[in-house]
Amino acid sequence: MPPALKALIAQISAWLIALLLVRAGLLAPEMHFVVGAQALGAMAVAALLRSAWWWLPIHLGFSPLLIAANQLGISPQWYLLAFVVLSVVFWSSFRTQVPLYLSNGPTVAALLERLPVDRGISFMDIGSGTGSVLIPLARHRPDCRFVGIESAPGPFLVSRLQARGITNLSIERGDFFKSSWAGLDVVYAFLSPVPMARVWAKAGRELKPDARLISNSFEIPGVVAEEVVHIGDSRGTTLYIYRPGAQSSPKHPN
Ligand SMILES: C[S@@+](CC[C@H](N)C(=O)[O-])C[C@H]1O[C@@H](n2cnc3c(N)ncnc32)[C@H](O)[C@@H]1O
Repeated sequence: MPPALKALIAQISAWLIALLLVRAGLLAPEMHFVVGAQALGAMAVAALLRSAWWWLPIHLGFSPLLIAANQLGISPQWYLLAFVVLSVVFWSSFRTQVPLYLSNGPTVAALLERLPVDRGISFMDIGSGTGSVLIPLARHRPDCRFVGIESAPGPFLVSRLQARGITNLSIERGDFFKSSWAGLDVVYAFLSPVPMARVWAKAGRELKPDARLISNSFEIPGVVAEEVVHIGDSRGTTLYIYRPGAQSSPKHPN
């Protein structure tokens, strides 16, 4: 079951349980008792649905904070504005489970070092965010072709604005699972653990035998990387470099 659906079920069912307890006379009708029971109930239902552990404090705090914020008398337009801004930035993260966070300068420098110097290549950033990888790479390597695909409208617009005038860079809005990766030399991914098996399957089907898949921070489950690069930055970034088209990557025994 998708995590967002589990969260919805936990919240709604906990409200129903709390209201039924009040009706049955088992819970005092004062708001703080009802909200407290709802919060504990939501946490319990989320645990029963095997939600990730970090959902539990979110469920515990959600309704109490909602009620507390409501008492501050903030105009509803501000909530709408916050919702619109967050939606434009994070878009379908609730479904893809890949939020926006950006590769840092040392990572971009390490990627630049790994591009072959004797020939131009084609490089795609799947989920290109604000273009924080592609824009500096395209500026440093005018002989290479850089492509980005980003689904969230906010980061996409920021990247398109910054990429104006960079002729070896194109950034499209869309789902990278629906785009073709054929003919690329490097696919770069900074996503989350959730889509990595699917990324690997698509890369294996579509990439050339000598093409590389470089994953920032998230390993492909069950596949040993050809090379592991520790960036040495304060975040402890690691790059996992694979050759999905070669079919020779040894699998973990389990
Ligand atoms: C962690 S950010 C990485 C941004 C950029 N690549 C970087 O390294 O700075 C991941 C991005 O992937 C985007 N994304 C996630 N799933 C996607 C999909 N299926 N198609 C296109 N973009 C996607 C998200 O919207 C998010 O902006």
